[in-house]
Amino acid sequence: MNTASPASSAVARPAQRRLIIAITGATGAIYGVRMLDVLRRLGGVETHLLVSAAGWLNIQHELQITKDDLHARADVVHSVRDVGATIASGSFATDGMIVAPCSMKTLASVAHGLSDNLIARAADVTLKERRRLVLLVRETPFNLAHLRNMTAVTEMGGVIFPPLPAFYNQPASIDEMVDHTVARVLDLFALGPALSPAWPGLRGSGE
Ligand SMILES: Cc1cc2nc3c(=O)[nH]c(=O)nc-3n(C[C@H](O)[C@H](O)[C@H](O)COP(=O)(O)O)c2cc1C
Repeated sequence: MNTASPASSAVARPAQRRLIIAITGATGAIYGVRMLDVLRRLGGVETHLLVSAAGWLNIQHELQITKDDLHARADVVHSVRDVGATIASGSFATDGMIVAPCSMKTLASVAHGLSDNLIARAADVTLKERRRLVLLVRETPFNLAHLRNMTAVTEMGGVIFPPLPAFYNQPASIDEMVDHTVARVLDLFALGPALSPAWPGLRGSGE
C-alpha cells in the first residue's frame, strides 16, 4: 500500500487498469470491502481507495476492522480532503469509479457537481471524462430529492446500482448475496471472465 503524495502523481498510463473505490457512510460497508478483496484476487487492477468520515464510522460499527486492515486491501489510499490527488484530475487515466455503499449525501454532491471532497471530485472527473461511474446507493424509503438526484446522475451517464439482493440464484448466506452484487458491479467494468454466472433461463417457462 502506498499513501498518496504529490510524488505519486503519475502521467496517464492507459495500459494500467485502475479503479477508484469509495466507501461512504451508508449501511453496507461490506460491499466496498469485498470489492477490494475481489479485485486483489483478480489482480491486474490498481485500486485507489477513498473512505469518508461517516464511512469509517460504519466500517468500524459493521465490520470491526481497523484502518490498517482496510488500507492493506488497496494499492493507493487517498484522504478525502486531498483534492490535489492524482484522481482529482482527468489526466490520470482510470477505468472508472465505484462508490460502495453510496450515501444520499454523496449522491447529492455528485448529482449537483459540488466536488466538495475528493470522493465527489473524483466522481465528477469520472463523469466529465465519460468514464464509468457506479453508485451503490443505499437508503430506504427514498424521498423525492433522492429520486431526482439518481435521475440526474443517470442523465449524466452514471449507473445507479442499489445493492439489492437477488434470490433467483438461491443464496445460502449473506456472503453469497454480497458476492453476487459485487460480481454484477465488476461485470460492468468487463473485468476478466464474468464473475457471476449468467442466468440460464427457466426451463419450460412460458409454455
Ligand atoms: C450507522 C449509520 C448508518 C447510516 N446509513 C445510511 C444509509 O443507509 N444511507 C444514507 O444515505 N445515509 C446513512 N447514514 C447517514 C450518513 O452517514 C450521513 O448522511 C453522512 O453525512 C454521509 O456522509 P458521506 O457521504 O460523506 O459518507 C448512516 C449513518 C450512520 C451513523
